[in-house]
Amino acid sequence: MIKITEEILNKILEDAPDTEPERQYYFIEECKNIVDSISEEKGRKLKACINTFGCQMNAKDSEKLLGIMKKIGYEESDSEEADFVLYNTCTVREHANVRVYGRLGVLKNEKDKNPDMIIALCGCMMQEEEVVEKIKKSYRHVDIIFGTHNIYKLAELLFLRLVKNKMQIEILDSAVFTVENLPSKRKHSFKSGVNIMYGCDNFCSYCIVPYVRGRERSRLPKDIIKEVEELSKEGVVEVMLLGQNVNSYGKKFIGDEISDMTFSELLREVEKIDGIKRIRFMTSHPKDLSDDLIETIKNSEKIAKHIHLPLQSGSSRVLKEMNRKYSKEDYLLLAEKIRREIPDVSITTDIIVGFPGETEEDFNETLDVVSKVKFDSAFTFIYSKRTGTKAASNPEQISKEVSQKRFDKLLKLVNDISKEQTKKFEGRTMEVLVEGINPKDSDFLTGRLSNNSVVHFKGDESLIGKIVNVRLDEPCGFYYMGTLD
Ligand code: SAH
Ligand code: SF4
Ligand code: F3S
Repeated sequence: MIKITEEILNKILEDAPDTEPERQYYFIEECKNIVDSISEEKGRKLKACINTFGCQMNAKDSEKLLGIMKKIGYEESDSEEADFVLYNTCTVREHANVRVYGRLGVLKNEKDKNPDMIIALCGCMMQEEEVVEKIKKSYRHVDIIFGTHNIYKLAELLFLRLVKNKMQIEILDSAVFTVENLPSKRKHSFKSGVNIMYGCDNFCSYCIVPYVRGRERSRLPKDIIKEVEELSKEGVVEVMLLGQNVNSYGKKFIGDEISDMTFSELLREVEKIDGIKRIRFMTSHPKDLSDDLIETIKNSEKIAKHIHLPLQSGSSRVLKEMNRKYSKEDYLLLAEKIRREIPDVSITTDIIVGFPGETEEDFNETLDVVSKVKFDSAFTFIYSKRTGTKAASNPEQISKEVSQKRFDKLLKLVNDISKEQTKKFEGRTMEVLVEGINPKDSDFLTGRLSNNSVVHFKGDESLIGKIVNVRLDEPCGFYYMGTLD
């Protein structure tokens, strides 16, 4: 802890601007003064490690958090033997929470070795009251807790923790306002996620996201376009537009701002930006996927030929219980239309097994859809009961054994089909965005096709971030081995 008098502290707090982001830039400077003096004392730069759990939204938030930490003067570190460790948490399934608690235990040992270490927690899990209560009670070595609606306040909370010897907790129930224009540190130089909307209003009955991420709100087109233009200037060639249900983009904007733009129109605007070569988006809810979107992808040179279209279940009865608002038949028709209209498209999905009340018959319907749609790949999950959701109070919870058996069977089918699907492009030469050196063999580069499949091939490091033609020599299940053309 840094010792400053009550008087100086009060003065610093009094002088802080009331408006954002100015207030946060002010606290970044205040933190920087403190961090610089600790650095000098220790004779080295302070290190910050940010660990991200969960989805692309969290990954994007972590880039913003790291941007703030770097501006304060911390050096980025992959190791948790650091001066500042932050877990950006996920709570979509129970397993994610268990992992965080486990790792917090390990961090306790690190902190015993380095008592100046600051441990912070943020993200979706922190929006749950019982989680924060548990941490306050049983994990006293945590220093800072904040949620999903105030990640922009990291510098202010860190400052308060540095000057007061007390756990700092700030969780907001909803986004009071959205703060833009804060620093951000991208993980990759050539690709970036771009938030186009926040929150979710769908309330699928199993899902906790609407409770921890708040109401759905879209960012204004002009802000999105400006961000993509700036990214392009910085050398980004691929953007991924992020939202829990991108197909409902434009229904409700941040604040009370008015705009008039659908997701397809937004895509067409982003496509006009020079320098951007590939556009991805995540996630599409089947209930809102329009014909206009299919047309837009079909006619586009830049939009990736990949649609992630979560099925969740193949049983119309279960889908109704899940509040997904489409039937098995709707999904099959949609998938068929997508495959028919967009050549070489890949369709990937998310599937849950063991939803409360799921019968063997329901499960077989899921297998049936998987066989018919032939997903290029699929994420499969065992249903996890989330407190506060509608499905959690359903008395017909499925036993672990039954869920596991269904899961194993589904996984085998999904894997067999993905393997078959990768054979489609064997021998063809296709465009690959080179993402990096293959971590297992440094002679090889790794990149992705427009349809999101991974390709490994020999090549020089200088190609990273470029789009090159690669012949797909050998389909190996989940990836291809290829040769530069
Ligand atoms: N907004 C996205 C999904 C975000 S969560 C969509 O609707 O498509 C990512 C995936 O986690 C979901 O698609 C779902 O398959 C899975 N998931 C969500 N809640 C879950 C739960 N309670 N148990 C198991 N899997 C769950
Ligand atoms: Fe969860 Fe459904 Fe919203 Fe996706 S659309 S985040 S599954 S509530
Ligand atoms: Fe997890 Fe939150 Fe994403 S719960 S899946 S990190 S929105």
